[in-house]
Amino acid sequence: MELRIRPASQADLSAIHALLALAALPCDDLATSHIEFLVAATGQQIVGVVGVQVMPPAGLLRSLAVAPNVRGTGLGKRLIYALEQHAALRGVTQLTLLTETAAPFFSHLGYAVIERGHVADAIAATSEFRSLCPASATCMHKHFVLD
Ligand SMILES: CC(C)(COP(=O)(O)OP(=O)(O)OC[C@H]1O[C@@H](n2cnc3c(N)ncnc32)[C@H](O)[C@@H]1OP(=O)(O)O)[C@@H](O)C(=O)NCCC(=O)NCCS
Repeated sequence: MELRIRPASQADLSAIHALLALAALPCDDLATSHIEFLVAATGQQIVGVVGVQVMPPAGLLRSLAVAPNVRGTGLGKRLIYALEQHAALRGVTQLTLLTETAAPFFSHLGYAVIERGHVADAIAATSEFRSLCPASATCMHKHFVLD
């Protein structure tokens, strides 16, 4: 069945929560932080998710997870490209993220490591930065423009 990446709807939230929990990613603030999600769906099944908190020109990229059975097929990369386009259309020119496990993946996609103290104030104030991600997480960012 064809795989489609699209903005998430309210009906997708429990599937998003399940994917993030399975990947051991933070779920505590899903209802309270304003996160725009994209999902990858085959029919009714959600097999990938990525989110962004938009604070133009900054954006916090977060909540990237691909279902274990479809990892290694290019879906993570497709989700990031779609998220970058979505964020750019919302006025974001720099995406920042924290990761404990996927720094090589993001490096592959043009993200560079930065010191946590160098991020925009709006990013530093998010709950992911303040409390949800451990201090040991790698902080990365990427400047981009649309083609
Ligand atoms: C990280 C994750 C999203 C990658 O998704 P994926 O669909 O398996 O990745 P892709 O198939 O799109 O891989 C794209 C490229 O990155 C490489 N890659 C994938 N995971 C990688 C990793 N952990 N380290 C280094 N490179 C990686 C692939 O080899 C591929 O390279 P290519 O373009 O040369 O072929 C997935 O492993 C996952 O859901 N992990 C658990 C949750 C997580 O860690 N999320 C990130 C939190 S910020």
